[in-house]
Amino acid sequence: MQKKKRNVIVGQSGGPTAAINSSLAGVYRTAIDRGYTKVYGMIHGVQGLMEGRYVDLSEHIQTGLDAELLKRTPAAYLGSCRFKLPEIFEDKAVYEKIFEILDKLAIDCFIYIGGNDSMDTIKKLSDYAIISGSTVRFVGCPKTIDNDLALTDHTPGYGSAAKYIGTSVKEIIRDGWSLETEKGQVIIVEIMGRNAGWLTGAAALSKGEDCDGPDAIYLPELPFDLEKFIKKIKGILAKKPNVVVAVSEGVKTKDGKYVSDLDDSPDYVDAFGHKQLTGAARYLASYVSREIGCKTRAIELSTLQRAASHCTSRVDILEAYEVGGAAMKAADEGDTGKMVVIQRLSDDPYQAGTEVKDVHKIANDERLVPREWITKDGTFVTDEFITYVRPLIQGDVAPIMVDGIPRHLYRPGFQDKL
Ligand code: F6P
Repeated sequence: MQKKKRNVIVGQSGGPTAAINSSLAGVYRTAIDRGYTKVYGMIHGVQGLMEGRYVDLSEHIQTGLDAELLKRTPAAYLGSCRFKLPEIFEDKAVYEKIFEILDKLAIDCFIYIGGNDSMDTIKKLSDYAIISGSTVRFVGCPKTIDNDLALTDHTPGYGSAAKYIGTSVKEIIRDGWSLETEKGQVIIVEIMGRNAGWLTGAAALSKGEDCDGPDAIYLPELPFDLEKFIKKIKGILAKKPNVVVAVSEGVKTKDGKYVSDLDDSPDYVDAFGHKQLTGAARYLASYVSREIGCKTRAIELSTLQRAASHCTSRVDILEAYEVGGAAMKAADEGDTGKMVVIQRLSDDPYQAGTEVKDVHKIANDERLVPREWITKDGTFVTDEFITYVRPLIQGDVAPIMVDGIPRHLYRPGFQDKL
């Protein structure tokens, strides 16, 4: 009989997505199938782990229905964190503490589902394991709606967010046309993504036989010029009464100031030094009403775009599951200091596979939208962009509805104060 393996621990970190729990389900299933005894889940990532907070996932995923619900549950089931580990030479004690807990739990594999900041955690922990002679294997499982991780074709979570954005922008455009307003109406839709425009560009997915798509799209990859912007809006308003513009939360003026900061409102800064970006649409909408005097609306898609489990992409949810499984497989087979990446084999039919890459080449890097995928005038994305994203939003995963509302997997204590 095959010897039972020791244990696995899995955590979720960074901004949640609608697909992140599908990866968790994939890690869990593969760990069990590969003969691990226990699969622990860190509560609120490595930060919670350091406080001794973890659960035995077998108590949470008891039936096939639980696993199916988990795949359809948005946000981090285990709770997430934005926690930056110190450099090893700065504070060895932090590492000693984490490894002591891992030893106590008899952990062989540590899987972290996250974005570039979370891969920094995998990088540091795998480096420390080498220095300290630990045999624990550390593997990253990619996740971020921002789609800005290096070396992977795309990241789980992005496809579903892109689908929600394309759908919502289409609905907003439709709504705008219902009522005529005297001087016209300008709607600014603010979309997440920080310094990368992958999500904002997805607003173009609304364009089709029954919809012209947004009138302009502003990505954070290019400097934002207020004067050119207002000129463009006036030009469009001269031709049509309803204007819809998609704008990234991270657009900056040419001197590097976030548009959302132009009104000088104070914003929260996280442990990685990232400023909470909010208010670009609000600022631009007031600017337009001041300059033009027409009706404006600022719509910040905010949390909705990453939590919309009722509008996920089947491709995304399945890939998230596979990538979770691939991370577990890689750790089981001896990989450490690695992250699973998705490799696209073809666009049509869409085919993709996974492999593992060195996390040192991924952590803390940001993959931006290439200049050639943005139109020359910088106010829309090209057909190549659409060809890239379209396969990632295909198919649906029907929510399991109870009393008319999608049912999620409930974790007792998930709303408790830390
Ligand atoms: O990292 C993903 C992300 O969704 C970014 O696009 C966004 O800027 C950030 O998280 C927002 O995070 P929070 O909800 O913590 O403000």
